[in-house]
Amino acid sequence: MEVIDGKFLSAQLKKEIEKEVDDLKEKGGKVPHLAAVLVGDNPASQSYVRSKVKFCDEVGFESTLIKKDESISQEELLDIVRDLNEDPYIDGYIVQLPLPRHIDPEVVNLTIDPKKDVDGFHPMNFGRMALGLPAYLPATPQGILMMLERYDIETSGKKCVVVGRSNIVGMPMAILMSQKRAFGNTTVTVVHSRTKNAEEEIRQADILIAAIGRANYITADMVKEGAVVIDVGINRVEDPTRKRGYRLVGDVDYANVSQKASHITPVPGGVGLMTVAALMMNTLKAAKKEIYN
Ligand code: GUN
Repeated sequence: MEVIDGKFLSAQLKKEIEKEVDDLKEKGGKVPHLAAVLVGDNPASQSYVRSKVKFCDEVGFESTLIKKDESISQEELLDIVRDLNEDPYIDGYIVQLPLPRHIDPEVVNLTIDPKKDVDGFHPMNFGRMALGLPAYLPATPQGILMMLERYDIETSGKKCVVVGRSNIVGMPMAILMSQKRAFGNTTVTVVHSRTKNAEEEIRQADILIAAIGRANYITADMVKEGAVVIDVGINRVEDPTRKRGYRLVGDVDYANVSQKASHITPVPGGVGLMTVAALMMNTLKAAKKEIYN
């Protein structure tokens, strides 16, 4: 069994991005600038945004963090989004999800300029992705593709099972894995809450991608011997032995599933770090106007 080391890959990507930023600077190009909008005080969101800002600092990007109280109105948030669309210094930006209940994330998403949508969530980018046109790919699926690529995992003709059908992970992942592309060409099944015999479907997977947000949901008896297991979940479970009172676990029962898998991603130290790295790659593309000219 080989661990797919997100920490190692993310450090490698960090170096590659840093070098590109140096080259850009040398040529007098624009230093990539990412903005993040964080609404409310969700601890997980705060932690994700902190790691995005830190990554920016480490690779030499500029970053702007816009923090707003949970009481912000939808219209006030939309004004911030419109300002970011118009701001020539900002190459790309994200609005961290989830948003408070009184704000419609769809309305916010539709207001984001697709050219600056480095999350790849806007229908323009999602649609272009689905058609195989140049687009900002959503960060988590893109990070997973990079893991498959850098560990040279054969995917063509394999059976891929994606567990979960969210707009930001499960659905785009299923589309990308079925496309005619390097590290795609798999036959994809999407397992969701209404799937009959979900466990039987999951057991067929040569490549299993778990993105449901339920701690240790995938147990060893659901996994085929030799499967490649990608764990997208980042779940907090109570742990009084830890100073902060909790620990992070994935959607996969790592201790037991790792005995059967050929490759597996750990949590923490797996997909989460790749998501941040992929967001930075999109921001670099935005600064270089690689997708939209
Ligand atoms: N919340 C969880 N994952 C993400 C992400 O990739 N982008 C944004 N904006 N919010 C998230």
